[in-house]
Amino acid sequence: MNKKLVTLLLAAGIAVIFIATGLQAGTTVSDSITMDYNKYKKRTKTPPKTAYVVFTHKKHAEDYKISCGDCHHDKDGKPLALKTGDNVQKCVECHTKLEKAKQKKGEKEDILVLENAMHGNCVDCHKALKKEGNKNAPTACGQCHVSLTKK
Ligand code: HEC
Ligand code: HEC
Ligand code: HEC
Ligand code: HEC
Repeated sequence: MNKKLVTLLLAAGIAVIFIATGLQAGTTVSDSITMDYNKYKKRTKTPPKTAYVVFTHKKHAEDYKISCGDCHHDKDGKPLALKTGDNVQKCVECHTKLEKAKQKKGEKEDILVLENAMHGNCVDCHKALKKEGNKNAPTACGQCHVSLTKK
């Protein structure tokens, strides 16, 4: 066997392992996603104070006509031109920090913190919409993080 072929077979073998263990990026997406990516300490307290945020992925893309690249971007933050069926990385694959460090005065918030990335995406767009007079895109904490304790 020549060297090239060996390398190729090795690569294929690795690819199979990745697929088998589910470590590859996803090509399918459910109509709505339960946003339960973080393993925040708060979540391990029982019972949790708020329910997981439910994100209506399909509605956002189809009914609200937001382009894929408004939310999905590459490693440099550049918008991705996607279509249904494309392989897409999860936000948490890059926004890997699950704990929010205390922000020092005057310090920019760390966008690699998942919570900041989510709020930067979801909340910033909703806030901009609210300024334009839209009342249906939630901006208050409790509208997305629905309380499990308050009635
Ligand atoms: C309003 C923001 C938004 C829009 C618009 C959007 N997505 Fe997403 N998408 C997300 C979020 C948030 C997730 C969940 C990410 C995660 O799992 O970390 C996601 C998940 C996905 C996943 C699943 C990834 C996985 O590994 O489970 C795919 C595939 C996907 N989107 C494709 C698309 C395509 C194609 C479009 C355009 C037709 C699109 N998305 C439009 C925000 C968006
Ligand atoms: C391939 C890695 C990668 C993935 C996947 C990824 N991000 Fe990012 N994201 C980055 C990087 C790197 C930056 C910082 C870019 C910069 O410095 O301009 C960033 C920046 C951001 C910002 C700040 C943008 C701005 O204009 O200030 C937001 C908000 C964000 N990401 C949300 C998300 C969301 C939501 C998802 C999933 C739907 C996601 N990211 C998926 C790497 C990624
Ligand atoms: C680029 C803009 C944009 C981004 C990014 C975005 N949204 Fe929205 N969102 C909208 C619009 C537009 C509506 C619908 C307003 C209307 O009905 O007129 C909406 C509505 C909603 C609603 C209420 C209606 C429904 O479909 O459930 C929820 C909850 C919501 N968004 C959650 C999220 C979450 C969670 C994220 C981040 C993962 C997110 N949104 C990201 C634009 C955005
Ligand atoms: C548009 C919807 C939306 C709004 C409004 C919003 N968040 Fe979030 N928030 C999210 C999403 C989505 C995540 C990511 C959850 C995940 O992936 O696990 C998140 C994550 C968090 C987390 C870390 C995860 C957890 O559940 O402990 C905290 C804390 C949090 N938000 C607090 C707040 C507070 C406080 C406010 C109001 C100032 C707020 N959020 C407003 C959507 C929202």
